[in-house]
Amino acid sequence: MNDLDTLVKAAQADFAAARQGAALEDAKARFLGKSGRVTELLKGLGALAPEQKKARGAEINQAKAAIEAALQARREQLAEAELELQLQAEALDVTLPGRGRGVGGLHPVSRTIERIEAIFASMGFDVAEGPEIETDWMSFTALNNPENHPARSMQDTFYVDVKDAQGRWLCLRPHTSPMQVRYAQAHAKANAAAHTTPEIRVIAPGRVYRVDSDATHSPMFHQIEGLWLGANVSFKDLKVVFASLVRAFFETDDFDVRFRPSFFPFTEPSAEIDIRFGSGPLAGRWLEVAGSGQVHPQVVRNFGLDPEQQIGFAFGIGADRFAMLRYGIDDLRLMFDGDLRFLSQFR
Ligand code: DAH
Repeated sequence: MNDLDTLVKAAQADFAAARQGAALEDAKARFLGKSGRVTELLKGLGALAPEQKKARGAEINQAKAAIEAALQARREQLAEAELELQLQAEALDVTLPGRGRGVGGLHPVSRTIERIEAIFASMGFDVAEGPEIETDWMSFTALNNPENHPARSMQDTFYVDVKDAQGRWLCLRPHTSPMQVRYAQAHAKANAAAHTTPEIRVIAPGRVYRVDSDATHSPMFHQIEGLWLGANVSFKDLKVVFASLVRAFFETDDFDVRFRPSFFPFTEPSAEIDIRFGSGPLAGRWLEVAGSGQVHPQVVRNFGLDPEQQIGFAFGIGADRFAMLRYGIDDLRLMFDGDLRFLSQFR
C-alpha cells in the first residue's frame, strides 16, 4: 500500500468517525483544506522533475477524487440519518382516534318555534320579534294592567334598576304580549300615513322571564304571542286558527279544543285554551297550551286604534309546552340544562 492509499484510508476512517456535519467538515479541512494533507502534497509537486511531476500529480488527483467521493458519501449518510431522526421525533400515530367533529342541531324549542312560524305564515300571519328587556309600561300598563294592580303579581318578573329615556322602568319581559303593542302601534302609524286600515295579523315568538323555578316552571321560557285585529274578527276565527295550528303541528285530526273562562287584564272575555288528544300517549287528558281572549277596548286604544273599528283576539302560546307535548318530554328543566345526552337526540 503506497502513501496515497494510506492517505485515502485515513480520510475514509476519519469521515466514518465523524458523527455530525460539523465534525465531518473538520475532517474535510484536515485533508482537503488550504493546509490539508492533500493540498500539502500538491504543493510539494513543484519540487519534482517534470516527468515525475506528471505521474505523481495524476496519482495525487486520483487520491483526492477518492477522498472527495468518500466525503460526499458520508455527507449523504449523515443527512439521511438526521432526516431519519427528525422523522422519528415528529412521527404521527395515525392509528390514534381523531377528535371527531361535533354535529350540531337545532334545539327542540327552536324547531318548535320554526314549525309554528311556518304554520302561521301559511295562514297569513307576519312574524315579529322584539326586545327581551322591555319597559314596564309596555309589559303592563299598555296592556291595561294598572300600576299597583294585584294582577301584576300574576307575572312577577325581574326588574332592571334602570329607566329608559322617557323615564319608564325596565324589566325582563314576563310575556310576549308587549309585542302586541309594539307591532300594532307601528302598524297604526304606518296605516294612518297611508290612509288605510288593513288587518293586523302577527305572531311574535321569543324568550320571557318570571321569578319561578321548579319541574314545570323555569325563570326563562318561550312564548309565541298572536294578534289578529280587523273589522270583523271574532272568537270563531280564533277557534279555527287554533285548531288549524294543532292539526298541522301535531299532524292529527283526533283532538278537541276547549276555551276555559279565565282572566287577563288585556282581554275581555278571556280564556285558557286547552287541547285533548283522542289517541296517542297523551289521550284523554286536557292540556293547557295557551292564554287568549278578545282584545280589551282600552288596549286597542293604547295601540292607537279605534276599538269601534278594530276588533279581534290575542293569544299567548307556551312554546316549550308545545315542544314537550310533541317530543314526549316530561321535565321542562331538560330543555334548558344543555345536557348533550338529551340534546343530541334532536340532531
Ligand atoms: N300573556 C299571557 C301570559 O303570559 C298569555 C296571554 C293571555 C296572551 C291572553 C294573550 C292573551 O295574548 O290574549 O300569561
